[in-house]
Amino acid sequence: MTETPPPPRARAEIDLGALRANVRTLRARVAPHVRIMAVVKADAYGHGALRCARAALEAGADWLGTATPHEALALRAAGITDVPVLCWLWTPGDPWDQGIEAGLDMSVSGTWALDEVVEAARAVGRTARIQLKADTGLGRNGCQPADWPELVGAALKAEADGHVKVTGLWSHFACADEPHHPSIAAQLDVFRSMLDHAERAGVRPEVRHIANSPATLTLPESHFDLVRPGIAMYGVSPSPELGTSAELGLRPVMSLKASVALVKHVPAGHGVSYGHHYVTEGETTLGLVPLGYADGVPRHASGRGPVLVGDRVRTVAGRVAMDQFVVDLDGDAPEPGTEAVLFGPGDRGEPTAEDWAVAADTIAYEIVTRIGARVPRVYLGE
Ligand SMILES: Cc1ncc(COP(=O)(O)O)c(C=O)c1O
Repeated sequence: MTETPPPPRARAEIDLGALRANVRTLRARVAPHVRIMAVVKADAYGHGALRCARAALEAGADWLGTATPHEALALRAAGITDVPVLCWLWTPGDPWDQGIEAGLDMSVSGTWALDEVVEAARAVGRTARIQLKADTGLGRNGCQPADWPELVGAALKAEADGHVKVTGLWSHFACADEPHHPSIAAQLDVFRSMLDHAERAGVRPEVRHIANSPATLTLPESHFDLVRPGIAMYGVSPSPELGTSAELGLRPVMSLKASVALVKHVPAGHGVSYGHHYVTEGETTLGLVPLGYADGVPRHASGRGPVLVGDRVRTVAGRVAMDQFVVDLDGDAPEPGTEAVLFGPGDRGEPTAEDWAVAADTIAYEIVTRIGARVPRVYLGE
């Protein structure tokens, strides 16, 4: 991996070598017949959908997964045409016709969606690939068990009419990141019985799947034909209870860095940033980091977020503002332009995205996903 020089303000380095290694690690955690769907929704959790999709495919992923149709269509438009792409968050009026033309696998959770996809298939004159989503207990998207027979029956009729092909049956866990949570076994039971019903009725799916990253890592009985890892592919632990990235054999892909914009000496008793929630105890030095909540640095981490400057981890002093925040350098006076590392893999002593999640009382998913468009992504290992 070659080090690139820091650009003027800030950057998110995306280590595609790490992403490929994580995909290979996940591949080694599942049986050889189990296919891997690389989840690249939300711009690959902020890492850049297209480059991450390509890197994941190079490392052995078989499918891609997105939330919105527009995310999936963008992958096709960029030339990823020979890989199945499942897209699961459809809203009435969405471009089913484009999804059919693009050969997307389109998730259907209710009869309104089946009606729209059938109408689009008629208009386009092609068979739509659909996957029926079961709500096995998450209580979010997906078809309730009580409504499943009706949805399955309608899908089979549309299949017999040549409008759709049911390529998958699938679901999503609520608590796979909480080891031994009773809902895990309960959801698996419901999933098996919903699969059983659909298969007895005549559905012949190519893939049956329910496992996200935590289930991929810890629940082999949930792997079925395919697993759908997102966060683990980006090298971030799904939850502290499952262990750190390193303990899971994963390497964080994103590092968030900035150049210190100003270093100055201030007297004791000096308020720092909006609201003066931090006041210097004694004479000290302050460093200005040119990243703020507009860049995705959580304001909730005001007074708590950790940042490596020089060889020491400092703490955000006072409030995170829209474009900048301050760290107390405790008398040190690094040159302006010195690198400030908010998070990275952790092996140079820098904090991790998980550390920021703790500081902001959130999950590491949110930390990486919310890094804003103003922060350029710099790709390593392409
Ligand atoms: C339906 C679905 N499958 C898979 C994933 C990937 O989850 P994770 O990032 O925990 O692996 C997500 C993400 O939230 C999702 O919504």
